[in-house]
Amino acid sequence: MRSIIDITDLSVEEISELMDTAMDIIANPAKYAHACDGKILATLFFEPSTRTRLSFEAAMQSLGGSVISLPSADKASSSTKGESVADTIKIVNCYADMIAMRHPLEGSALVAARNSSTPIINAGDGGHCHPTQTMADLLTIHRYKGRFDHLVIGLCGDLLYGRTVHSLINAMSRYPDNRYILIAPEELKLPDYVKEMMDEKGIAYEETTDLNKAIPQLDILYMTRIQRERFKDPANYEKLKDSFCLTVSNMDLAKEDMCLLHPLPRVNEISAKVDGDPRAAYFDQALNGKFMRMALILKLFKDNEEETASMKRGVTRHFVPHYDFGYKGAKINISKCTNPKCISSVEQELDQIFVNGRCIYCESKEKE
Ligand code: CP
Repeated sequence: MRSIIDITDLSVEEISELMDTAMDIIANPAKYAHACDGKILATLFFEPSTRTRLSFEAAMQSLGGSVISLPSADKASSSTKGESVADTIKIVNCYADMIAMRHPLEGSALVAARNSSTPIINAGDGGHCHPTQTMADLLTIHRYKGRFDHLVIGLCGDLLYGRTVHSLINAMSRYPDNRYILIAPEELKLPDYVKEMMDEKGIAYEETTDLNKAIPQLDILYMTRIQRERFKDPANYEKLKDSFCLTVSNMDLAKEDMCLLHPLPRVNEISAKVDGDPRAAYFDQALNGKFMRMALILKLFKDNEEETASMKRGVTRHFVPHYDFGYKGAKINISKCTNPKCISSVEQELDQIFVNGRCIYCESKEKE
């Protein structure tokens, strides 16, 4: 069963096809109005959301399908009674043809996918990944800049916990000659596992705390919120929360065709006075999220057609132990992940696996 856990689950060719589908949906919405007649999407959100949940639900309804939802799954689902992610998913499989899930634990989407007989779409797993936001980002870049290469990309704000940042870098690192300027306070710098990926691929990046110095060089500026909910110590959040606030005078330093993105919600990191600037693309970005989610839902149904048909004929579901998930040639260690936000630290009975020194769920480094 094909699921989307990380943006790299999609090849660059597939991303290009998804862009084409999204552009066709924008041009010819009526053509797609019954594409998912009779299908049900479940939206399982164990964390708050406005854009992602509503755009998934609007996407499915625009395709003629219907939606069942647990919008506050952290409070309203049987997870409050201790039900595991794996069991929740096996139950929702009985009622829905596809599941979009957001969960605060890193690696939760992988656990969901490995226990699901229907496609899982990761709608955000803790501070780890948010691939469908990246698809919204990519469509916006495509529509504003017309290319994914030869760009100077500034990422500003909470680069440590900003899952949208991690997914966007993963996506853009597959296109040639992009350069990154990482603008963050010392405490919120990009995690090592992302920088190591960039180093391995020979991708150019620099780190700075100075937004004004960086901004004149940028083709794209991706602002992010300092994420209060990910801080252990509220005093640290208070210290860092106003690290950046992009104003009209900052924008005066930027190129005339710079594209200003933000996954939203914003708190105060972009002044509302910037909203009228033609370079401010963040509300378009939210709308693009709906078109890309429509394209992705269509693709996943198509890719899984054969498997779904065989299940409907009553073929028994078959859950494979994690060991069998294609790690041939990799160095595998069975050891406990020490990241308290990793699903394997919280849920019992998950295989504790490190592949080439990284936890398979949250990508944390194995302790020596
Ligand atoms: N960008 C984004 O994920 O927004 P929500 O948290 O509102 O879904």
